[in-house]
Amino acid sequence: MKTLHLKVMNEKSVTEIEKAAEILKNGGLVAIPTETVYGLAASAFNEKAVENIFKAKGRPNDNPLIVHIAEINELEKIAKNITPIAKKCMDAFWPGPFTAVLPKRDVIPSSVSGGLDTVAVRLPANSVARAIIKKSGLPLAAPSANRSGSPSPSTAEHVIDDLDGRIDAIVISEKCAVGVESTVVSFAVNPPRLLRPGGITVEQLKSLIPDLVIDPAVTAEPEKGVAVASPGMKYKHYAPKAEVIMAVGSINAFCEYCNIHKDDFDFALCYDEDEVNLNLPHISLGANDNHEKQAELLFQFLRDIDKKGYKRVIVHAPLKDGVGLAVYNRLIRAAGFKVVDL
Ligand code: TXA
Ligand code: MG
Repeated sequence: MKTLHLKVMNEKSVTEIEKAAEILKNGGLVAIPTETVYGLAASAFNEKAVENIFKAKGRPNDNPLIVHIAEINELEKIAKNITPIAKKCMDAFWPGPFTAVLPKRDVIPSSVSGGLDTVAVRLPANSVARAIIKKSGLPLAAPSANRSGSPSPSTAEHVIDDLDGRIDAIVISEKCAVGVESTVVSFAVNPPRLLRPGGITVEQLKSLIPDLVIDPAVTAEPEKGVAVASPGMKYKHYAPKAEVIMAVGSINAFCEYCNIHKDDFDFALCYDEDEVNLNLPHISLGANDNHEKQAELLFQFLRDIDKKGYKRVIVHAPLKDGVGLAVYNRLIRAAGFKVVDL
């Protein structure tokens, strides 16, 4: 399949936006930019198109998709039992990197929800994404626009690398500002539960949901055979082909461990503070308290690891406050939960 490349730097590129919308209305697949990562969009009402998303990505069928809307009044059409606390969070965090899981209405096919009776909904901040959703007049099911299991796409080049020739069109736009996916919270349970950390932090959530429950799978490997609240959490994710080990400990402990074991690793992913004493080829994700920067660079760096052909990589675990929790969550999955406690 020849994939159409549509260059759209802002919502004023009307012709290209109309083209993208037309493909979506006809049941096609279009990769679109969002402020978190690029998404692979299709009409959430079109079962065949949704099936094609799973095929193009190589995604397991039981891993449900997020439905993207452009106006808050679209929500009632696809979800129900919207609690006051869910509404409060949407008012505070939409448009933005926040996804609410709610009981679904029947118009959403079960292929979108992976057979669950809930649907995940997000209203993105990216103006190109919103213009395309509006023009299509449809809610758009859109997982991250990467091949399943590989690092998520934070630039249009990443999407081209993974999906060119497999989908109808790619909207080529700017690098994603946040760089990690949205925060997913389920309001279908009481108290609400954080299923995936992302661009909206736990600190921000707790200011509105004091009794928020953090799902244990956010920071640890789900137990084998135990049902997970979010199917996406059970899969190895975001992983380069290289073997990745995550090391948890202080700057000193990390540098000492790397220097002692320097023949075991060919590369390290670290923070500015680690660089001074590290005798291993490495790259810094920024200052260890600059989680926004780490999120922005993370997926690019994980992709670069394979491009450079590294085989064994050690990553220093980030601090878990703010967006750092999302970076930690992605890195521990990239490491396939292989962790050394220093
Ligand atoms: O920022 C984002 O959320 C990006 C952009 C494109 O919007 N999308 C994204 O989609 O990251 P995806 O499919 O890569 O991740 C969706 C996550 C998965 O972990 C999935 O299991 C979970 O959300 N999810 C979706 N629907 C769910 C539901 N009904 N119940 C529980 N978890 C759900
Ligand atoms: Mg994904």
